[in-house]
Amino acid sequence: MSEKLPILPVASSSQKPLSFRRTISSPLRATSLLALGGLAALTLTSLATSSRSICSRTSHSGKEDSLGAWIEKQAKISWWSLLDNVGPTAGAKPGLVIASPSRSHPDYFYTWTRDSAITFGTIFDRFQPSNISSNGATLRHADSSLEPLLREFVASQRELQLVKNPSGSFTDGGLGEPKFMVDGTAFKGSWGRPQNDGPPLRAMVMTRYASYLLDRSAPEDETYITSHLYDATKLMSPGSVLKSDLEYVAHNWNKDSFDLWEEISGPHFFTLLVSHRSLAVGAALADRLQDQGAAKFYLAQADLIQKKLDSFWLPSKNYIQASLPSSKFGRSGLDSAVLLAVLKAGDLGEESWGVAGERMLATVEKYVKGFKDLYPLNEGGKRKEWNGALAVGRYTEDVYDGDGKSKANPWFIATFAVSEVAFKILTHLETTSVIRVTDVSLDFWKRFFPSAEAGDVYSRGAIDGVFEDVTKKLELWADGFLTVGKTFEGEGGAFSEQFGRIDGTSKGAKHLTWSYGSFLDAINARKHYHHLRNQHRR
Ligand code: NOJ
Ligand code: NOJ
Repeated sequence: MSEKLPILPVASSSQKPLSFRRTISSPLRATSLLALGGLAALTLTSLATSSRSICSRTSHSGKEDSLGAWIEKQAKISWWSLLDNVGPTAGAKPGLVIASPSRSHPDYFYTWTRDSAITFGTIFDRFQPSNISSNGATLRHADSSLEPLLREFVASQRELQLVKNPSGSFTDGGLGEPKFMVDGTAFKGSWGRPQNDGPPLRAMVMTRYASYLLDRSAPEDETYITSHLYDATKLMSPGSVLKSDLEYVAHNWNKDSFDLWEEISGPHFFTLLVSHRSLAVGAALADRLQDQGAAKFYLAQADLIQKKLDSFWLPSKNYIQASLPSSKFGRSGLDSAVLLAVLKAGDLGEESWGVAGERMLATVEKYVKGFKDLYPLNEGGKRKEWNGALAVGRYTEDVYDGDGKSKANPWFIATFAVSEVAFKILTHLETTSVIRVTDVSLDFWKRFFPSAEAGDVYSRGAIDGVFEDVTKKLELWADGFLTVGKTFEGEGGAFSEQFGRIDGTSKGAKHLTWSYGSFLDAINARKHYHHLRNQHRR
């Protein structure tokens, strides 16, 4: 089972320039450096040189690169750009993540709980990657210099939980507040609130950190867990940031809330699936912390959520809808939120909500197809170098153009999410060595093998070579979505929120933290897949 794999070299955070993007020096940055004591390995020389040299690429010269070379370069740009949006470097309180430095048209200069938790998930992947494949193989590329940053995140969220806001106070709904000012005070304007995906997303990354600390099990780690993350002797208590989120989720998952796109209130697949997973992993942690009563309660709630999740599957339409029911909101329900849900909930293989489960495959196929003729830049899917991949957006009925309402554009996070999904499917196939075509997944497999029929089974090494052929095409497709990103990256490798539906130029919030993170997540999945495949071929 848990074979030890080599530690892969990654660009260490200690090579991060002071600010990758913004060049004007600010006193805040010095504060940030001090606060990040562990990043003290930064040398002034590296600060002075690296951002320039990476930045020096003239506009769009990346297009001449091969995909691999571009990915390598873009990985550094994305990582530093993401870190640029955290804490004092970004003009925010230590530990707080800004959604984007854009302060007008649109104003995204706030800290959203969802974006922050997702961003710290990406950061945590570098700190201590989780198991990614169902056979237990772990790919490690730990960067321990990130721990002070994680601690700042914990500290910032502990304080944020206690801030009275329009959704309520600490014990009566305040944790459902979607966003705060970057100095950690409440945002008082009108907004779609509450949004109940924030607490479970945050709980999941905190659970990863708490589990890591338990494994490390130094006496001071245990004290830290009790004082900052999870006090097993209390229910919701100030300072016990993880347990408080779990309690919030366990008691509120059944209430309507606004979706991750902040537009409609109801039950949502994304919110519920991440709630389910947060309680499942939270229960396992509670158990380790001798909090058996809580563990039992969280698991019981997770089971109830599991039952509710089933009603999002539309058998007659053969896909998972994003809200219950999506038709109530004038939507088909085909939405990148469903793909993101499965990605954020973690690897569940072929289980009902697993990335390689037949329902997911069916949903991915229908979702992607929906954009084929929607955006002129897809040209009906004819771009050869994309290998069938397309520029995709949040959902087809979307009208948010990045600043106001007109016609929506493709999004980087959606486009990269399909790539990540595809690489995770590949990783799954790599471990099972078999493709089983079902009625439900037929259309997905037909994309890669037009004569597929329900009931077909393709095994690795079979004489017909179908398994190898299909996985090769699936890989080209997965790379295709990254190529779309490569085609439409902004100046100097910048990712905004959206790119123009007609010409692909940057639209919406500039330097969107989550866009950079979604690219890093996708190439991480790609790296894991390559690694596993190369191992098997050896
Ligand atoms: C409308 C968008 O659809 C939504 O996703 C966004 O969060 C808000 N406007 C704020 O920009
Ligand atoms: C709009 C997106 O719809 C929402 O998910 C996100 O939290 C905010 N922008 C901030 O990035």
